[in-house]
Amino acid sequence: MSATAEAPTAAETAEPFSARLRAATWSDHEAAEHHGFTQALMEGRLSLDGYTAMVAQHHFAYVALERVGRELADDPVAGRFHRPELERVPALETDLAHLLGPDWRGRVHPTPATRTYVARIEQMADHPAGFVAHHYTRYLGDVSGGQFIRRVAAGAYGLTDDAGVSFYVFDALGSLPRFRSGYRELLDSLDLDESDADLLVRETRLAYQLNTEVLADLGRLHA
Ligand code: HEM
Repeated sequence: MSATAEAPTAAETAEPFSARLRAATWSDHEAAEHHGFTQALMEGRLSLDGYTAMVAQHHFAYVALERVGRELADDPVAGRFHRPELERVPALETDLAHLLGPDWRGRVHPTPATRTYVARIEQMADHPAGFVAHHYTRYLGDVSGGQFIRRVAAGAYGLTDDAGVSFYVFDALGSLPRFRSGYRELLDSLDLDESDADLLVRETRLAYQLNTEVLADLGRLHA
């Protein structure tokens, strides 16, 4: 048998795409996780007004994310990530009603960075691989670090029975570790050519940066 016949195939040697994506974007994750606003939140120093403002900014982003997600539900790449039980808008609306009262819609406004973020998500309706980047950045984060935020916020603001933090509750998904590994397998199974793989990595870096700019707006208003 020749050496080439014994050589592992590209698929056997290639780094799984989920690992490549995580490695290529982890420094951007660190910037979001260690931003002053996030740190204040995680250390229980953020006011309830600041937390509520963050929930409101999430609402604008997830309305766009979930609208585009539904538009791409039949797309061969983005559609594979479409899971109605992931949708966060109903939970965000319940949280905002709890935090701000029934007239919350008239009391929330997108910051400039949120407007930019929403516009970028909307552009992804024409770029399904790019949409996956935004999906990954938010939902895989919500079922990861988001679970810490849920506990800290519930404790800091005395939010009982998940009222005000239901955004972070994903009971319909079952085991979150199993969901996270299934999500990574889905990323690994995408049949992306190099240009789409590269686009997805670059768009994820941008998604993290756009999120960090929203945190910066929130920090200027509430830190
Ligand atoms: C309070 C701040 C945060 C903490 C403590 C935190 C913590 C974590 C931890 C521990 C993981 C690893 C989970 C695992 O390997 O299964 C993770 C993953 C992740 N986080 Fe965060 N995070 C924070 C903020 C953010 C923010 C602001 C975003 C996005 C806007 C985000 C997006 C993600 C994503 C996409 C992953 C999955 C990375 C991967 O394994 O591919 N995180 N986070």
